[in-house]
Amino acid sequence: MEPILEGAVEVHSHLGPGDERSLADDVLDGLTRPFKELPAKHLYDARGSELFDAICEQPEYYPTRTERLILEACAEDVVARTGAVELVELGSGAATKTRVLLTAMAAAGTLDRYVPVDVSESTVLACAETLVGAYPGLRVHGLVGDFERHLGHLPRPTGPRLIAFLGGTVGNFPPGSRRRFLRGLAKVLGGDGHLLLGTDLVKDPAVIEAAYNDAAGITAQFNRNVLQVVNRELHADFDVGAFEHVAFFDRRRQWIEMRLRATELQHVRVADLGLGLDFSAREEIRTEISAKFTRKRLEGDLAAAGLELVELFTDPGDLFAVSLSRVRPR
Ligand code: SAH
Ligand code: TRP
Repeated sequence: MEPILEGAVEVHSHLGPGDERSLADDVLDGLTRPFKELPAKHLYDARGSELFDAICEQPEYYPTRTERLILEACAEDVVARTGAVELVELGSGAATKTRVLLTAMAAAGTLDRYVPVDVSESTVLACAETLVGAYPGLRVHGLVGDFERHLGHLPRPTGPRLIAFLGGTVGNFPPGSRRRFLRGLAKVLGGDGHLLLGTDLVKDPAVIEAAYNDAAGITAQFNRNVLQVVNRELHADFDVGAFEHVAFFDRRRQWIEMRLRATELQHVRVADLGLGLDFSAREEIRTEISAKFTRKRLEGDLAAAGLELVELFTDPGDLFAVSLSRVRPR
C-alpha cells in the first residue's frame, strides 16, 4: 500500500475504502442485539478526537493530568531500564503525554523512532508532523489502523522496543478481550521489549463518575457524536438530541459504563443497511466500558498474557497507575 506521507515521516493507512464496512458490520451486529451496543472505536472521527482532547482538559477528568505526573516522575527510570530505541504507541491520539517519554529517550541519546498507531487518521498525521519538528533526527512511522487487527503491520524493531498504551484505554476492553489483546502485544514486544501500560485505579465511585459526567457536558457531546458518525457514514437518521448521555460505575464489575438513552420512543432508518430500528422510551445503547484496576486485577491480566510486572508507578493519591512489564521468561 502507498504511504500517504514519506520522508522522516512515513504514515501508512490500513483503513481502506472497504473499511467503512467495519462500521456497517458493527452497526448491524450491535444495534440488532437485544441489548444494543456500539464499539467504542467509532467514537473517534475527527470531531470525536477533538472532543476527546477537550475531555482531557476538564477539571473532573483526573486520568490525563495524573498519568502525566506519573510519567514525568518515572520516564528517566523507564528509559534507563528498557534501553528503548523506539517507542510504539497504541491509541496515540494527540500524543501530548508521549513527549515526556520521547524527551527522556532523547536525553539518554537512544531515541530513534516513534510509531503512533491510531484509528483516527487526522490525529496520526498531526502528531507525526509536530513530533518530527520537535525532536531533531526522530523518524516517525505512523500507522492508521485498528490496534486489534493491524499490529501485524508494525515495522520491524530497530532495537529494544517500548510499547506504550496510555490513558487507561486498555480498560475499554471487556475482560476476556483484554487478555487476548495483551497476549497479542506480548508477541510484538520481542524478547527485549517492554510494555508501558496506563490503567485507571479503583477508587471512590463518586470521583470516577464525575470524570465521565463533566459539568461542561463535553463527555456527553463526545458520546452522542457516535450517532452523528453513523448518520454521516451510513445515511442514518438518528435524532441525536433525543439521546441522553449516561455514565455510571458498575461496582460489581468495577468498570464505568457509558450509554446513550433514548428520551422517547423512536424509529431510526439506516439507509445504507436497509435497516429499521425501534427504540422504546428509555432504551439504551452501550457505547463504552472503562475498567478500573487494582494491582491484583492488573497482575492477573498480565500473567494471563504471559507478561510479568517489572515496576508499578503510581501517584501519591493512588488515582492512576503506569506499569512496566515484559514477556515472562520461560
Ligand atoms: N493516548 C491518548 C488518547 C487516549 S483516547 C491519551 O492517553 O490521552 C483513545 C485513543 O485510542 C483515541 O485516540 C482513539 O482514536 C484510539 N482508538 C480507539 N480504539 C482504537 C482501535 N481499535 N484501534 C486504534 N486506535 C483506537
Ligand atoms: N480511554 C478513555 C477512558 O476510558 C476513554 C474515555 C474517556 C471515554 N471518557 C469517555 C469513552 C467517555 C467514552 C465516553 O477513560
